[in-house]
Amino acid sequence: MDATAALAQDLPAPFRDRASVLECPVSGEPLLAGPDEFRTASGSRRYSVSDGIANLFAPLGPEMAERDITAMVKAFYEETPFPNYDDLDTRDSLARKARQSLFAAMLDEQLPAGAVILEAGCGTGQLTNFLGMSWQRRIFGGDMCLNSLRLANGFRERFRIDNAAFLQMNLFRPPFRDESLDVVISNGVLHHTGDPRGGFEALVRKVKPGGLVLIGLYNSLARLPTLWRRRLFERFGPAFHFLDRRLTEGNMNEGRWQAWFRDQYAHPHESKHSITEVLGWFDAHRVEFLSCVPPADGSDFAADTSLFTPQRRTSSLQNWSTELKMLLDGGHDGGLFIMIGRKRS
Ligand SMILES: C[S@@+](CC[C@H](N)C(=O)[O-])C[C@H]1O[C@@H](n2cnc3c(N)ncnc32)[C@H](O)[C@@H]1O
Repeated sequence: MDATAALAQDLPAPFRDRASVLECPVSGEPLLAGPDEFRTASGSRRYSVSDGIANLFAPLGPEMAERDITAMVKAFYEETPFPNYDDLDTRDSLARKARQSLFAAMLDEQLPAGAVILEAGCGTGQLTNFLGMSWQRRIFGGDMCLNSLRLANGFRERFRIDNAAFLQMNLFRPPFRDESLDVVISNGVLHHTGDPRGGFEALVRKVKPGGLVLIGLYNSLARLPTLWRRRLFERFGPAFHFLDRRLTEGNMNEGRWQAWFRDQYAHPHESKHSITEVLGWFDAHRVEFLSCVPPADGSDFAADTSLFTPQRRTSSLQNWSTELKMLLDGGHDGGLFIMIGRKRS
């Protein structure tokens, strides 16, 4: 058996049959698979694969040092992997919960068949594992936090989810060839970096012309209720936890409770954004706007909404009024909005 076959045998399908999309995150050279590592053809750089997770993390260069908060954010998530699993989670319960979230269910139904996907900042891998249950796609879940990836890959192995694979990476230096991916998803991640727009640029570079980009960010207005609660919790403690139903419902184990509480109310860094701002990012990088969740034209987000059919592009005023509506509705899901676009050919 040759070395490539030895590595291939134990690893999930994306590493076995889509490894050609990977590249060295430092030199950009293609990666070859060895028995327990990926390496460049010259052998000058080697990346271990331990416990089924490929360690392809590359730090930022000194030119980014000023804005680099990677180490601080990594330490935060190593202590509290997000969103973590329930003790009794199984393949079925994960799929059931994902379908309840509507967005994940719609992705599962509407993503193009055969797509090679990266979820950048996958955390403990719920979405990657859910989407990886379909034989119709290959999905890489990448994150810098090793403890999150261990939970993600542990779940994947336990429930034999063969079409998902996990790797440690820095989204500012994604270890993928330029224009090699059909879809990049990054939900709730870029606002925890020192340069959200730079992160967006680094990810879009990896998408094929005609491929899809989905970016979820905190919105400046819709995030306000969470920030108000944060102030109250800091000042008055648990007596005010009733203001966030998830904290008092009692249906999360300790790990998930801590993950939600700390991610929402004790995070060391978050930025806030707007629909109009991200439309500017799309325009600057030749990404055609397709849709927004919630819809920017104020219509309801329903199960029959098509994520990848171009919606009418809305004015800054309409975008602002959609964001105001998100605020008045209570800023659900921490005030996240998701922008979906297609990279132009
Ligand atoms: C709030 S969690 C979101 C997890 C997941 N996307 C979800 O929606 O459940 C943010 C994740 O982004 C990851 N992250 C932040 N900065 C990153 C970077 N520069 N490279 C890779 N991952 C990063 C963190 O480690 C963390 O797991």
